[in-house]
Amino acid sequence: MDNRHFLDLSDAGGDALAAMLNDAQDRKTARRGWPKGRGDADAPLKDHVLAMIFEKSSTRTRASFDIAIRQLGGSAMVMEGGSMQLGRGESIADTARVLSRMVDAIMIRTDDHAKVEEMAHHASVPVINGLTDKSHPCQIVADLLTIVEQGKALPGLELAWFGDGNNVLHSVLEAAGIFKFNVRIATPAGYEPESAFVEMARAGGATVTLTQDAQAAATDADVIVTDTWVSMGQENASEKLDAMQPYRVDDALMALAKTDALFLHCLPAHVGDEVSESVIEGPQSRVFDEAENRIHAQKSVLLWAFGKL
Ligand code: CP
Ligand code: NVA
Repeated sequence: MDNRHFLDLSDAGGDALAAMLNDAQDRKTARRGWPKGRGDADAPLKDHVLAMIFEKSSTRTRASFDIAIRQLGGSAMVMEGGSMQLGRGESIADTARVLSRMVDAIMIRTDDHAKVEEMAHHASVPVINGLTDKSHPCQIVADLLTIVEQGKALPGLELAWFGDGNNVLHSVLEAAGIFKFNVRIATPAGYEPESAFVEMARAGGATVTLTQDAQAAATDADVIVTDTWVSMGQENASEKLDAMQPYRVDDALMALAKTDALFLHCLPAHVGDEVSESVIEGPQSRVFDEAENRIHAQKSVLLWAFGKL
């Protein structure tokens, strides 16, 4: 079997993603109340080692992949980009070929998406995208899990996104095309997502609305989502922060959504910027379920990558 790289959601496709969401829920339920270091009973990835390369900071991705592979019976090693020879100019191709002889899978978080593609091209083990400037597919598996476990069906769902048209939104759009949910995107002019992702969602049958009217986007939405206004590697420009002010998710915006609407944020949050304290700490917020679900989602991504789903 060719390597199952998980660079974006469409590498897996709808059937596999649906299977991943089911398996994640089953495994989450089966181990409820257990200590987090205890392995799942079936140890499906016993003896497997995952290398995790970080060229950008991480709390959730790093911890969740480490715990995920441990719970599946395997182990992980963390490699910080700056302390690798990669940081001194060793090529991605050689790094991929060397690590492929030493570990069973590679997860990489980096800036340029082309680096992840290059890694996958040269690796003979599965490569997983742990976030690039372009996309964050592992996050969206956790977000979909959070939505479905709250009893909301994905097809026809109305998801509203506020603020920056960034990497996380790109993966939301990819998921929308796969699962046929609709996305209203409220951004200032000039901060829209890349049009290729909008077109991908539309081609899959999703309705995507781009607007500068935050109130219109929020009205009757099922899920309200935002993310930092300044992603890792971006400049903290005052011009951008000024433009983002009308897109803060606050109580007035939440009040326009359905009464049972959920609030999601991949974290880390900048409270007072993209979201008010009252919303992120409020009764509709599921941000810590979403963070925990990174573990359960990452387990399903790993199982898929190893051909076990
Ligand atoms: N949401 C997310 O990917 O968090 P980290 O940057 O902490 O990994
Ligand atoms: N858009 C954010 C997500 C962080 C998890 C970033 O790229 O910094």
